[in-house]
Amino acid sequence: MALVSGYHHLTLCTDGVQEDYDFYTKALGLYSVKRTVLFDGTIPVYHLYYGSRNGDASTIITTFPFRKPAVYGKRGTNQSKIIQQAIPVGSAGYWVDRLNGKGIEASTISRFGITRVAFKHPCGIPHELVESPADGRPPIVNEAQGVAAEHGIKGIYGAAIAVFDRTAMDDFLTVGMSMTKEADSDEGLMFSVPNALGPSSVVEVLHEASGPQGSWTLAGGTIHHLALNTGGEENQLKLKAHLEGLGFTDVSDQKDRNYFKSCYVRSPGGALFEIAWSVEGGWALDEPADKIGSTLVFPPWFEHRRDELIAGLEPANF
Ligand SMILES: [Fe+2]
Repeated sequence: MALVSGYHHLTLCTDGVQEDYDFYTKALGLYSVKRTVLFDGTIPVYHLYYGSRNGDASTIITTFPFRKPAVYGKRGTNQSKIIQQAIPVGSAGYWVDRLNGKGIEASTISRFGITRVAFKHPCGIPHELVESPADGRPPIVNEAQGVAAEHGIKGIYGAAIAVFDRTAMDDFLTVGMSMTKEADSDEGLMFSVPNALGPSSVVEVLHEASGPQGSWTLAGGTIHHLALNTGGEENQLKLKAHLEGLGFTDVSDQKDRNYFKSCYVRSPGGALFEIAWSVEGGWALDEPADKIGSTLVFPPWFEHRRDELIAGLEPANF
């Protein structure tokens, strides 16, 4: 039995905080689910979470806007390349028009026979809205932003990873993460993520042998990691042991992310993966359940740094 069921979240390092917030909430119609700060290191950096109104796992995109510390990375190969979200079949035209109307260049493309809208985050990271043929999740309706049910984003579809060696990821994704290879063509490889609620998400592997090596640090303009959902601690620790037994001995110890617990592992194709599960209480740990994402909150172990962190964050209007 698979120890993973769908994605938990995707995480990017971006540029300016305001453009990041406006991109996800106003252009794409997601909701703010949590506003906190980067828990690793010492530099004050926002950590912003976006997703469905209730913050359902598999809808969450999180960002670290890095403009204030001005730490930027290099996009390239052996790195995650494209953030993908699912949209209803037939809604690509709506999204092309909507994004172009907001000054975001967008066009329709196809890969693996599936229609997508290709565009970029203001920091340059490629995004796709994918007409997912099999996705039973409800669309994210956002009346305030004019996104109706027939067009709304359904959550994470997946991510495309660029690699030097097109077969480097096979064993990691199939034997390691219980994914199934669904396509293998000159467009690349596609693996479906196991999901107890039915198929809805993938990893795509794109062969880019001649590009520059992408950076792996926490740095603006790059995707940092792809988090899969283990549902609970037992599956997470079993999967950690399983990966270690395959030779991926650098699976990190469990880290406390306040709302969820995470272990990290570098894949052979360069992309960083996380295996995570949400704790009891989730997003409502520190805000009322109907007001999640509306205030700046800190984990208990950062409360003594509250004033210093607030003073060091990039100003934003939200
Ligand atoms: Fe994460």
